[in-house]
Amino acid sequence: MKDAQVTRKKLKVAVLLSGTGRTLDNFHSEIGASRLHAEIVAVASSSSRAKGVEKAKQYGYPVFASDEKNQRELSRQINEFILPRHPDVIVLAGFLKLFFMPEGFEGQVLNIHPALIPSFCGKGFYGMKVHRAVVDSGVKVTGCTVHFVSPIYDEGPIFLQECVPVRAGDTPEDVAARVFELECRLYPKALNLLADGRVKLSDNKVWIEE
Ligand code: GAR
Repeated sequence: MKDAQVTRKKLKVAVLLSGTGRTLDNFHSEIGASRLHAEIVAVASSSSRAKGVEKAKQYGYPVFASDEKNQRELSRQINEFILPRHPDVIVLAGFLKLFFMPEGFEGQVLNIHPALIPSFCGKGFYGMKVHRAVVDSGVKVTGCTVHFVSPIYDEGPIFLQECVPVRAGDTPEDVAARVFELECRLYPKALNLLADGRVKLSDNKVWIEE
């Protein structure tokens, strides 16, 4: 057995969302199947009407929702809710606002973007808008990116990135489904690597120890 497996711990995760909470669903089922070594300690939403809020309640997670429009104030409220629950990491899971992380959380806030950063990302690029732009551009591969969050939207050191093909005749919906399947594998993989203590951030780059 490798040292990394010996030191594996259950990561305490706070999940931030704005929409349907499909990533929360995935985390919940991966944890249930013991494939994701994590515990969801809090869920926070930037919309009180988000489907993800209902799901979080059904799953029994502590949940907070705010329709606050000022992004700095929204982040302050979210942090006030999640910090007393002592998360090891804060995970953006379809969170469509800029998140101002709490002090001392550099390298502990993750986002997933449904494209290969630095392409098809930044303000306005989210959900189906990304996949429509991908299909319109004629690129032959797309994918998803797990990255550490920085003060700029969809930026910050890239942690994991994998590709899927874009095939002739694909609709944006076809591409979205293929990418989301990949997201469901890649985000838990990133969290497990963190749980194993195998991730090093240096010079704004991420290194994974074998
Ligand atoms: C995911 O596909 C994620 O990659 C994307 O939102 C989806 C989950 O939201 N995030 C972004 O586009 C961030 N730029 P949902 O659960 O509301 O469908």
